Amino acid sequence: MKKLLASEVLPDLETGIAAEIGALRGRGVEPALAVILAGDNPESQAYVGRKRKMAEKLGLRSVECNLPAGISQRELEAEIHRLNGDPDIHGVLCQLPLPGHLDGNRIPELIDPLKDVDCFHPYNFGLLARGTPRFVPCTAAGILALLAHYRIALSGRQVVVIGRSNIVGRPLSLLLSQKGHDATVTLCHSRTADLPRIASRAHILVAAIGSPEWVVPEMIAEGATVIDVGMNRVEDPSRPRGYRLVGDVDFEAASARASAITPVPGGVGPLTVVMLMRNTVLAARLQSGHGA
Ligand code: GUN
Repeated sequence: MKKLLASEVLPDLETGIAAEIGALRGRGVEPALAVILAGDNPESQAYVGRKRKMAEKLGLRSVECNLPAGISQRELEAEIHRLNGDPDIHGVLCQLPLPGHLDGNRIPELIDPLKDVDCFHPYNFGLLARGTPRFVPCTAAGILALLAHYRIALSGRQVVVIGRSNIVGRPLSLLLSQKGHDATVTLCHSRTADLPRIASRAHILVAAIGSPEWVVPEMIAEGATVIDVGMNRVEDPSRPRGYRLVGDVDFEAASARASAITPVPGGVGPLTVVMLMRNTVLAARLQSGHGA
């Protein structure tokens, strides 16, 4: 069983993106990402911290807008409008989930589509759905880069995606079935009947459910490639932090059947972050008129 590692995919991506940032700077454009974080959810803080570190590494300007947990919907939306109107900010991202009293469903439509590096805006999602994406959602882009790096073929093959979220499962299933990738995609979810029978037909199985170690060997075909998007904290008193990170796949059990699998952590996660930087560079190019 081969481990599919972000660390093997990242260096080329990072070098390419850093070079693009350097080229834009040479033309007087400083690509910049604004990340809005409302409240003090520790997992969201950790995600935002990873984005900050990657931005620093690549030479991309990142601005954090930390808003108090009690902020009103109107104040949050005013912050988004302010960033939409700031010509020195090219990408705007509002970290989800938001505190319970805020309506996260409104956010995708509020971010300027040209700054929508998450690809959440209905217009950008529509471009993606019809096969002409502007931004590719970061996790889906990371998975495509990983598969390409390891030369795992998609064309004509059966892919099963478990999880229909607008962040990962749905856009990924749309992309993989498009011309150029040419996979045959089945999108499964919590109401799918007889999931083990369907999932175990897949050459490539993608788990994006958000439940720890939910995918068990009966759902995996012998020799399949398994992509684990999950990032779940489970209590573990033996760890200094009191928890450990596990994916949506029972890694040990799956390893006996899969031919290749992404570990958690160290698989898809870091690729998602680097793709956010790539989307910010694309946004900077689109807004500055320096090719795209
Ligand atoms: N929270 C978890 N994943 C994501 C993501 O991809 N984008 C945003 N904005 N928030 C998230």
